[in-house]
Parts: sequence; C-alpha cells; structure tokens
Amino acid sequence: MNLHRLMQMHASGEKISMLTAYDATFAALADRAGVDSLLVGDSLGMVSQGRDSTLSVSLEDVVYHTKCVAKGVQAAQNNACIISDLPFGSYQISKEQAMQSATALLQAGAHMVKLEGGGWTNEVVQFLTDRGVLVCAHLGLTPQTVFALGGYKVQGRDEQAALTLLNHATQLEQAGASMLVLEMVPVDLAQKVTSKLSKCATIGIGAGNVTSGQVLVMHDMLGAGIGKLPKFVRNFLIDQPGVEQAMRAYVTAVKDGTFPDNERHAW
Ligand code: KIV
Repeated sequence: MNLHRLMQMHASGEKISMLTAYDATFAALADRAGVDSLLVGDSLGMVSQGRDSTLSVSLEDVVYHTKCVAKGVQAAQNNACIISDLPFGSYQISKEQAMQSATALLQAGAHMVKLEGGGWTNEVVQFLTDRGVLVCAHLGLTPQTVFALGGYKVQGRDEQAALTLLNHATQLEQAGASMLVLEMVPVDLAQKVTSKLSKCATIGIGAGNVTSGQVLVMHDMLGAGIGKLPKFVRNFLIDQPGVEQAMRAYVTAVKDGTFPDNERHAW
C-alpha cells in the first residue's frame, strides 16, 4: 500500500492526485489511470443516493462503498491509497466511538480515514493516530456542518477566520494527521497552510493550485454532475475518448500544475 509513496511525493514536491470513488468499476479505472488516492467520500449521499447533503450517510453506507472500491483497486493495479470518510455522527460522541468507526472502515478496505473539523477534533486525531490509524483531516468548507456554516460558502475569508483555520491545521498536524483536505478557501490561505505544514500534505478542492495535491468529486470531473457545478470544476472527459483517459488527463494536469487554474477561483 502506498501511503509511504504518497508521503515521498509530498516530501519531493510531486503533486498528489485524488478522486472520489464509490464503486468497483470506476475505482479500477481510476487506479489504472494512475490516480494516487481514492476518497470514498460521504459525498456519496449526494451523487449516489440523491440527497441534498451528506448528513444522512451512515457508517454502514461508507463501509459498503469502501468494500466496493477496495475490490476495484485490487482488480486493477492496486496502487491507489483508499481513504474513507467517517460520516456525520460516527466520531463526534467520543474518541472510542471514532476508533470503532475507523476500525469498521479499515476492515472494509480503507487505508486511512477522513474526518471534518478543527479544534475539538485534535484529541480524536491524536487518539486514532496513537493507535496506528492514518488520518486525513478536512478544514474550510466542511459539508457535515453546512447548516452551521450557513451554506456551501467560501471559508476563511476574514483575518480572524483565516488565523483560526491556520491554527487548527497546525494542531491537526501535531496530533498526527497525515493529510489535510482544504475545501473552498482563498488561495493565499491555502498557500499559508501548505507552507506552514511539513509532515502533513494538503489536498485542495476549490483552494487553488498551491496545495500538495488536488481532489475532485469524480462525477463532476466527468461532466456527470447534476445541478450547479462549482466554478473550479473542470470537465476532463470533454476532450478525451473515455473515462480512463479523462482520469489520466486529470492526473497529468494535477501533476504539472495546469489544474486547477487559480484565475478561475480567485476568492
Ligand atoms: O465527501 C467528499 O467527497 C469530500 C470531498 C469533496 C473532499 O469530502
């Protein structure tokens, strides 16, 4: 498994490509296309289940989709690092609850788990990483708290919010997080966080091309998103003959820094 390779890429400055995946076929195509990491995101609630938020996704749902993705990766080149989301309600009650939920995801085939939020999550991350669980954190727009945030909006715009996010990122790295998703934050804030962290790779989505890597929701980058797409999304299938080639084009664009284009989301 390739967390070691991901960390080497981070250390050497090679960008990390990540896509969401929810089933075996698309996971196998992504793995064959050279995508470094597959995120079994709780965005499955929206793209697979047709909900309008991620809040109704259960741990059992993520376990099921993780098993499907793991099968696909095994059937292909078996290179991609599988990260699975701890869904809302599966880690907020106690550190022990988080460990139980993480165990279910690892047993389903995940190599790492992802959780949202900063501050209160430090002790959860510390508890998990002390016990050998690899953790990806997630700051900025955290969809599990969309109602508290007042909608799907850019985060960290004012000075105080930016400072808080920077502090949270530093604390999460100290607690042992290996990766940190930064969703919909200004490019200069993503830059500050990325240069402040040394052991923890930042993965941007709507955060410019300054992060250690990028993630997109697979349906969006294949032009299969329904509803309004965020302006930072690019359709990689439009110039390609098939899905695997589109995913390969995404990997190439992330690696050579041509995706994303900072101009398209200068917020
Ligand atoms: O659930 C998900 O797909 C995510 C990504 C958008 C980062 O958290």
